Amino acid sequence: TRTLTILGIESSCDDTGAALVRATDGAAPEILANIVASQTELHAAFGGVVPEIAARAHAEKLDLVIEQALGQARLTLRDLDAIAVTAGPGLIGGVLSGVMTAKGLCAATGLPLVGVNHLAGHALTPRLTDGLEFPYLILLVSGGHCQFLRVDGPESFSRLGGTIDDAPGEAFDKCAKLLGLPQPGGPAVETEARQGDPARFAFPRPLLDRPGCDLSFSGLKTALMRARDAVVAEKGGLTRQDRADLCAGFQAAIADVLAEKARRALSQCPGITAFAVAGGVAANTVLRQRLTAVAGDLPFVAPPLALCTDNAAMIAWAGLERLRLGARDDMTLSARPRWPL
Ligand code: KG4
Ligand code: ZN
Repeated sequence: TRTLTILGIESSCDDTGAALVRATDGAAPEILANIVASQTELHAAFGGVVPEIAARAHAEKLDLVIEQALGQARLTLRDLDAIAVTAGPGLIGGVLSGVMTAKGLCAATGLPLVGVNHLAGHALTPRLTDGLEFPYLILLVSGGHCQFLRVDGPESFSRLGGTIDDAPGEAFDKCAKLLGLPQPGGPAVETEARQGDPARFAFPRPLLDRPGCDLSFSGLKTALMRARDAVVAEKGGLTRQDRADLCAGFQAAIADVLAEKARRALSQCPGITAFAVAGGVAANTVLRQRLTAVAGDLPFVAPPLALCTDNAAMIAWAGLERLRLGARDDMTLSARPRWPL
């Protein structure tokens, strides 16, 4: 048996992450450290992630989070077997910072370099947390992603469908903004929706009339704006109840559409071992309930939230899986803003 210890580095969006994962063949892997430095506050005033600010902050923080991770795991670079880094897709400045840092460390230590696709990191997480066996279906659903993937191996993914415009997390965030609720919007909308009537306002169910697993969420925002404006025009403003009803209707539409598309995706994947979900929107209770129901007898797996959202443990793990296959990269590894699985 072989034990591998690997450092993972993540810097593709607004979280700077470093993590250490150790795995012995045939045993459950172990997360020795998982440090995430969030940039949320830096970007808060701008209403979204500012690429230039993100890149600068990653460059500033990377060394520190790597040191913190090594310190927490009581390891030095000498104890490692490889360094894995997100090589895309993502904001190019941040991805470049991570890739350059990883290359520097590999050049200095002679350790193998493993480039990881960020989406593969999300998609392989249920193997790290729950030991899922291939093949399984996963729904990636966050502020930046929304797609159904059948996962057949560490480097083998089939995309069954995905959003043709916004991601659901983005839609929740815009919904919150339109109703004057705080960011991130998802949790705020979910809380309001608890007191609301999902049937009071009519929201569309985009793309349900079209076959396949593609999704669309931008129309929901327009519907929300119309419904809100109609109430304001009639009564001069929104009451707490109006807001709750709007949130409930909006959330129900998203959950309905994702549940129906999940049903279709599952029907296209005979023989899978489980249905998994990852991404920040996986925190939504209503959505989880719907997806659990759709999974039926199939195990439904949702990793803990800290491993569902952007983190470096998933990058270390995906790198470890690639390394086990004998894959590695060299100093020509490039940072890719776009990189479909
Ligand atoms: O995966 P994540 O942390 O970041 C990226 O997308 O990169 O996901 C964040 C997204 C935000 O849009 C946030 O509003 C959404 O996940 N989110 C939720 C909930 N918690 C977080 N959406 C709906 N319901 C929630 N409870
Ligand atoms: Zn992500």
